[in-house]
Amino acid sequence: MNVLIFDNQEEASKKALDIFKDAIDKGAKTFGLATGSTPEKLYELMIESDIDFSDSTSINLDEYYGLADDHPQSYHYFMEKHLFSKKPFKETFIPDGLNEDAEAETKRFDEIIANHPIDLQLLGVGPNGHIGFNEPGTDFLIKTHLADLTDDTIKANSRFFDSIDQVPTKAYSMGIGSIMDSKEILFIAFGENKAAAVKGMLEGPVTEELPASVLQKHPNVTLIIDQAAASQLEKDY
Ligand code: F6R
Repeated sequence: MNVLIFDNQEEASKKALDIFKDAIDKGAKTFGLATGSTPEKLYELMIESDIDFSDSTSINLDEYYGLADDHPQSYHYFMEKHLFSKKPFKETFIPDGLNEDAEAETKRFDEIIANHPIDLQLLGVGPNGHIGFNEPGTDFLIKTHLADLTDDTIKANSRFFDSIDQVPTKAYSMGIGSIMDSKEILFIAFGENKAAAVKGMLEGPVTEELPASVLQKHPNVTLIIDQAAASQLEKDY
């Protein structure tokens, strides 16, 4: 893995933007996207930049089960607000949180991924090492599924909701198998609360207990982190 450590989130996000630009220059057409606090600065920089996604497809990693597209905490809403409304794509795909038929929805989403192989996948990480909503213990070969969120994740994400009771307990998530099929992966993590996950994924064993550790087996991963997220690393990068 190519590990790049930056003094702050702004510098790190600028580098992440360069990686998107390089991918487009090399012909990338399909981008896997993430939500959450981590990519917010990157999306801001994308909007300010001349990067052109009008011929690109995006596929988001996940969506809360039970939230409508226009719910302020849905990932549809997040993406519209933070990126799509200001930087249009040719087409965008996100799981449908209101589809109660999990078999149909996961099949539909897997077909979308199969028809649009992901050139560059952007990933954040949960403090527990999840990628997408592939929580600890998830099979490395799994495709899109309806995931039960762990108590840790529900607690971490409750900061976006009025109360913890309002946080959905399930989410549709792209599987680790599909993430690993992406041609290139850009992993970003900021802040001290990600330091243990970053240490484990880079310097620990590859284990389903720390889903991000699977990235050690991918041939083309760039890790962009800040000093705080790098604070537990023991090796030099
Ligand atoms: C979001 C996603 C999650 C987040 C992770 C970190 O689409 O897939 O894995 O990347 O929970 O979230 P933040 O960035 O809010 O710390």
